[in-house]
Amino acid sequence: MANDILFGPEQKKLHVGIIMDGNGRWAQRKGLPRFMGHREGAEAARKIIETAPTLDVGTLTIYAFSSDNWNRPPREVATLMNLFRTYLYKEVNNCIRNGIRMSIIGRRDRFDESLLEAIDHAETETQKGSVLHLRVAVDYSARDAILRAALQLNTSQEISREVFSRLLGEEKYTGVHVPDVDILIRSGGEKRLSDFLLWECAYAELFFSNKMWPEFTSGDFSEIVNQFSKRERRFGRVHETAVV
Ligand code: FPP
Repeated sequence: MANDILFGPEQKKLHVGIIMDGNGRWAQRKGLPRFMGHREGAEAARKIIETAPTLDVGTLTIYAFSSDNWNRPPREVATLMNLFRTYLYKEVNNCIRNGIRMSIIGRRDRFDESLLEAIDHAETETQKGSVLHLRVAVDYSARDAILRAALQLNTSQEISREVFSRLLGEEKYTGVHVPDVDILIRSGGEKRLSDFLLWECAYAELFFSNKMWPEFTSGDFSEIVNQFSKRERRFGRVHETAVV
């Protein structure tokens, strides 16, 4: 399958995960309702997605709604769900034009029919995209995702990190390999993982920005990728030239 090659284990392209935090505070600081922060946040996300392939990013996973976000006021939840639906329909043509394959990760059993249709439409229409794999995490919890993958394991198969990663990345359904996260970015000034890609981030380099998500620019993204390229990743080993 073509995508196996482009997104396969040998791919040298980066996987970036982003926790887009700070929409609400951005709006509140400007005296605006919180939903306007989410709307601006969607605009910021659009620009980051457009920039990703130019920075050699092959997989981009963005955290749009955590499973714990259902506990927000019902009006905010409804606004976010409407925003996701509109966004999915609006961005499909852009994605097709730019070779972006869109996947939604997380639970689906709590979405209404109209959102499920939008997801199905976006995933089907963009499935040939081979430049960037955009994964939007909605009703997502890393711990739940790990549990769901664990339930698929059976003792007659080899149980290894690789096998588990493939189950977690749903490779058997999509044919698309999801590599470990190289760069994890969180905007909004907080420094926590909030149940996002816990398995996939085992060796991720972490970057925190004090900017609220709607203020986060392509320049900030590019600067982080540049800083990442200067970090030494040892994956638990010592440097070859080290005296032992
Ligand atoms: C966290 O900010 C953000 C969210 C819960 C929603 C993220 C959604 C978007 C950026 C919209 C984009 C959607 C797509 C599909 C690209 P917060 O509300 O927790 O901010 P706060 O910490 O300041 O309250």
